[in-house]
Amino acid sequence: MNKDILVHNNNKPCYHIVISNTFEELALRIKTTGLNFKRICIVTDSNVAPLYLEMVSKACRMEADRVESFVFEAGEQNKNLDIVRKLYAFLIENEFDRHDILVALGGGVVGDLTGFTAATYLRGIDFIQVPTTLLSQVDSSIGGKTGVDFDAYKNMVGAFKMPKLVYINTGTLLSLDARQFNSGMGEVIKYGCISDYDYFKWLETNAGSVISRNQDTLAELVFTSCENKRRVVEEDPTEKGIRAILNFGHTFGHAIEKECGFTMYHGECVAIGMVAAAYISAKKGYICDADKERIIDLIRRYKLPTDTSGLNLDRKAILNDLKHDKKMIAGKLKFILIKHIGEAFIDTSLSLDDLNEALEYITE
Ligand SMILES: NC(=O)c1ccc[n+]([C@@H]2O[C@H](COP(=O)([O-])OP(=O)(O)OC[C@H]3O[C@@H](n4cnc5c(N)ncnc54)[C@H](O)[C@@H]3O)[C@@H](O)[C@H]2O)c1
Ligand SMILES: [Zn+2]
Repeated sequence: MNKDILVHNNNKPCYHIVISNTFEELALRIKTTGLNFKRICIVTDSNVAPLYLEMVSKACRMEADRVESFVFEAGEQNKNLDIVRKLYAFLIENEFDRHDILVALGGGVVGDLTGFTAATYLRGIDFIQVPTTLLSQVDSSIGGKTGVDFDAYKNMVGAFKMPKLVYINTGTLLSLDARQFNSGMGEVIKYGCISDYDYFKWLETNAGSVISRNQDTLAELVFTSCENKRRVVEEDPTEKGIRAILNFGHTFGHAIEKECGFTMYHGECVAIGMVAAAYISAKKGYICDADKERIIDLIRRYKLPTDTSGLNLDRKAILNDLKHDKKMIAGKLKFILIKHIGEAFIDTSLSLDDLNEALEYITE
């Protein structure tokens, strides 16, 4: 049974998230967006193209006069303006105009880059997300944040651009390697911690079935995660306030990601960052030690790291990154803590000592 979530933007209905386990309904769902296009350009990467491009092209051909595809080399290092430039050139050569659309088929790298291109080509054309990694299905395809990296700076150039449809086929998760799948679980556990205690308990109870990627379980997991993200982004579409709670685990997470030279996946770094945030939440007396341990146990159960052992990280460099983070937001570090499992808040009172202690906890 397909599931459907309607996402609002500024209190107006904006786009549907469809959760299915095949691509069978994709053509119909593209049709029901009501968009009036002639051409579709499917943007994907070199790993996803051999797996799913043909199936998605077939669905698109049912709805468009012409279907083109643009495939770039997989990897975060290609989420940059050089590839965007090549994509602009490709669209111009193929005479794509304002009414035509892009389809992002792949993980967060493809989604972010395609969304950014859609936001800027001819001052904006429409696009559809067809996310194929767990991280992109539960997080990056929803909420309209798009962008690319610039030199060493992650997501430095970007725009808010809402998709016209997010079509999720959870069947694509079966071809994902275990480490990538688990990395996506980092963001899933985050939702349990910041906004949904029932979901946290569900993740504890259903770990076996999630890890074995039972399709019904995955459908429920993706649905509940999307619902959590929807609630937060609807309340604060451009991150003026509450949306920042989605950064739980990300302050330390981003610093670790940078200091290990991006050898660890995003969700793995976020997992370690959540341990640091849980530690500070316990130290400040918001949660009890048992709840902190419960969070660490859940992270472990999904085979994610809970400390930096084996990474050989330079503590000073991490601390420096955290301070840099501080500089970026006018002298105050916005840190996300939890009051209890299932409710997060923004704290601006942490000292350098607090951060240092948490850093020791995850690096000891
Ligand atoms: N826009 C947002 O709100 C947001 C939120 C979180 C993360 N992001 C961004 O998302 C990116 C990370 O996304 P990701 O983790 O999906 O990485 P990714 O797009 O690099 O995908 C991971 C790897 O899996 C491969 N792959 C994708 N789908 C597959 C499938 N079904 N089967 C087999 N292999 C498959 C890809 O080719 C790639 O090698 C980062 O650039 C991050 O900044 C954006
Ligand atoms: Zn994240």
